[in-house]
Amino acid sequence: MSSPVEQARVRRTFAIISHPDAGKTTLTEKFLLYGGALGKEAGSVKARTGGRSATSDWMALEQQRGISITSTVLQFPYRDHVVNLLDTPGHRDFSEDTYRVLAAADAAVMVLDAAKGIEPQTLKLFEVCRDRGLPLLTFLNKWDRPGLGALELIDEIESEIGVIPTPVTWPVGQSGDFRGVIDRRDGVYTRFARTARGATEAPEEIIDADQAEREEGEAWEAAQEELGLLDAVNSSLDIETYEAGITTPMFVGSALTNFGVRKLLDAIVDLVPAPSARVDVDEEPRELDDPFSGFVFKVQANMDPAHRDRIAFFRVCSGVFDRGMVVTHATTGKPFNTKYASTVFGQDRETVDLAYPGDIVGLVNATDFRIGDTIWMDEPVEFARIPSFAPEHFSVIRVRDTGRFKQFRKGISQLDEEGVVQVLRDPHIGDQAPVLAAVGPMQFEVAVHRLENEFGAPVELSPTSYRLARITDAESADALRAMQGVDVLGRSDGTLLALFESPYWLERLERDQPELTLERIVAEG
Ligand code: G4P
Repeated sequence: MSSPVEQARVRRTFAIISHPDAGKTTLTEKFLLYGGALGKEAGSVKARTGGRSATSDWMALEQQRGISITSTVLQFPYRDHVVNLLDTPGHRDFSEDTYRVLAAADAAVMVLDAAKGIEPQTLKLFEVCRDRGLPLLTFLNKWDRPGLGALELIDEIESEIGVIPTPVTWPVGQSGDFRGVIDRRDGVYTRFARTARGATEAPEEIIDADQAEREEGEAWEAAQEELGLLDAVNSSLDIETYEAGITTPMFVGSALTNFGVRKLLDAIVDLVPAPSARVDVDEEPRELDDPFSGFVFKVQANMDPAHRDRIAFFRVCSGVFDRGMVVTHATTGKPFNTKYASTVFGQDRETVDLAYPGDIVGLVNATDFRIGDTIWMDEPVEFARIPSFAPEHFSVIRVRDTGRFKQFRKGISQLDEEGVVQVLRDPHIGDQAPVLAAVGPMQFEVAVHRLENEFGAPVELSPTSYRLARITDAESADALRAMQGVDVLGRSDGTLLALFESPYWLERLERDQPELTLERIVAEG
């Protein structure tokens, strides 16, 4: 068994973030192709599962809506490294689930459809990444189709997200007439050729400048002109500002035809920071070679209808995870035997025997584990919890058939634990008609679908007029409850939330009755 420090050095743990349809699934599949995890043909994963892709889309709602709700983890070797790709849910609106996945990643790859640029609903996700200072790589996808100009896209990324793109590869040929890329680090031009359906690696040819000028003509000239402009503003790869999340190395390609995919994967190995010591709640680093520790960033039930169990995913932060070892669950102080540890690849599960810093492991039936929990061996540690966002949407949920109340109750508490939605209860009404709260309304659809399909509890949602929430205490709660346009409900962790219909009303209250406890629900730390 080699040391956790050596193993961490060759690990790259990252997530892809994108708007649905930008090409995340296609790119993931092509990574697997280039990583050799698919054999020689990119289509083989699809064929095996009969689905659109093996890497996601395994729930019915995902298929209907063409979104992916759940995250899976892919691990594959590439260039003597071990790449861990965390799949993020591809919601149209912002989902906290994605944010939690980012807490377990060392970098993110932002995939943009070159014809669409930054789509409004995804902006928040990119902003969150920027706010966390997470290193961000950018891939302009679908360059094989007519789209915006690369310079235009650079402007858009900079003005909308506030990170500065530093192009590493530059296209020869406008979008729609894609021939190859020039690597700005060494000036080398790589020309690509198409293969049938992009099922095998795209043949690459290194072409020198004279030949390129002759053969590519105007496309070459245009690229040279643009490169001149980029050099003039000195927008070149800069590791320090990239690692601080200020600049984003940018790559151009086409996941469908495999053009530029290798360059991006190489950059992931070269640029995604290797796992490093994680700081605990006291700001002390847990060094990589300290005894084992990990933190839970995702809990997911019923991933496989045949099993109907519950998996808590954690990232290894220090030491070596050795399946079967007994870890301590920091929150309860209880021991937990890790006999059932697995990775999840689409619908397939594989047992994990050993895992190192940066790796993701799923523990089956770790029922006490919640998002943000720490587990450790030998020396206690507790990592900071993953901050949650202030909900902006509130709906009352009721079971349609009272005979299914037991299933309904079980379902909502499960969804609450997974962090799909927050469940807010009035102490006098309890589970009869709780209020669901979420950052984006699509979470409600997910909740309704899962309650019906997994728990057999058809439900109805009714909108509320609440628009925002503040944390309060028992003392203020009585005064608040007596007011119009305010309600106070409890979260399952015991926190009391005051819900307001109008921000103006809240502002007035804050001004006129400063003695009331009304704390903001802090977003990211
Ligand atoms: P997502 O996971 O981000 O939602 O996107 P996905 O990979 O499913 O891609 C969405 C659509 O865009 C797919 O087409 C896919 O083939 C296409 N696509 C992905 N990358 C590229 C690219 O580089 N160039 C072009 N031209 N298209 C690309 P679809 O018609 O919706 O599905 P399918 O029938 O191809 O599976």
